Amino acid sequence: MNIDGLNIDGHTRIFGLIGNPVGHTMSPVIHNTLASYYGHNLIYGAFPVADDPVKAVEGAYALGICGLNVTVPHKSAVIPTLVETDDFAFKIGAVNTLVRVDEKKGYKGYNTDMPGLYRALQQENIGIAGETVVILGAGGAARAVAMMTASKGAARVLVLNRTVSKAEAIVREITALYPDCRMYAGSIYDLSNLPDEKFLCIQATSTGMSPHVEQAVIENSAFYERIHTGFDLVYNPYDTKFMRLVRQAGGRAYNGLNMLLYQGVIAYELWNNMKVDEDAVSLVRRRLKEEMGL
Ligand code: ATR
Repeated sequence: MNIDGLNIDGHTRIFGLIGNPVGHTMSPVIHNTLASYYGHNLIYGAFPVADDPVKAVEGAYALGICGLNVTVPHKSAVIPTLVETDDFAFKIGAVNTLVRVDEKKGYKGYNTDMPGLYRALQQENIGIAGETVVILGAGGAARAVAMMTASKGAARVLVLNRTVSKAEAIVREITALYPDCRMYAGSIYDLSNLPDEKFLCIQATSTGMSPHVEQAVIENSAFYERIHTGFDLVYNPYDTKFMRLVRQAGGRAYNGLNMLLYQGVIAYELWNNMKVDEDAVSLVRRRLKEEMGL
């Protein structure tokens, strides 16, 4: 069978995503486009796994599946079944990419979400080292962003959340790991302690995600005047209210599509032991945008 230039045969390496739900995933677009671009004999699909992700991973190994992505709600639950976990993924406590290691008879876990975000920032020349970063949110995504920015040498990180105790817990934990980074916790409702200088703001709450496109986690225009660059982890909608507020106040604004793209690219690189070139990245970006109707 010939699909988009791919020949599916007895040698085709099989990859996929486990999570629940998986119906809206764009990962097949990323990986099957790259496979087609490079002429790799592999195929990527989505496996809905409602419960028992550990059994799913063990079954995937038994079936000879070469690699998996893991999404919500299983990113932490699969860790006990892995034969190895990359250091950074271990610190974050969440994996999104499993690489088959035959010698160890199991999978090694990685987290490519944060390296994906880092590469997306680098691509736009947005620096982290020595910078002041304000993170909105204190869920799993915000915690990982705080870990990444501290590990990349941010001078100062402020975590603002609706529930302040969650921001405080993140600050305590990450300060212990990266004592050189000055970390502060605060409330999204009290903006009296913002840094004096303009800052990079990373929006890591679920606010503003489709269908709630008219929401932004902070609406106060004075806050947005302090932002030189705003990065929203949300990519649907393509232009979020947070991004519009950043731009209206004179800052640069980016959505999370490149983070999604690069987390996939880095997983593909791990699975195929290669570097994906920028032409391939551009092709995948075009396909993702087409998929989103853009
Ligand atoms: P994830 O793992 O994707 O980060 P999560 O753990 O559910 O998801 O975290 C969601 C984040 O969005 C939290 O910071 C949450 O604030 P609380 O910790 O106070 O719950 C934030 N969030 C969600 N809806 C919000 C809203 N309407 N206003 C403000 N913050 C909101």
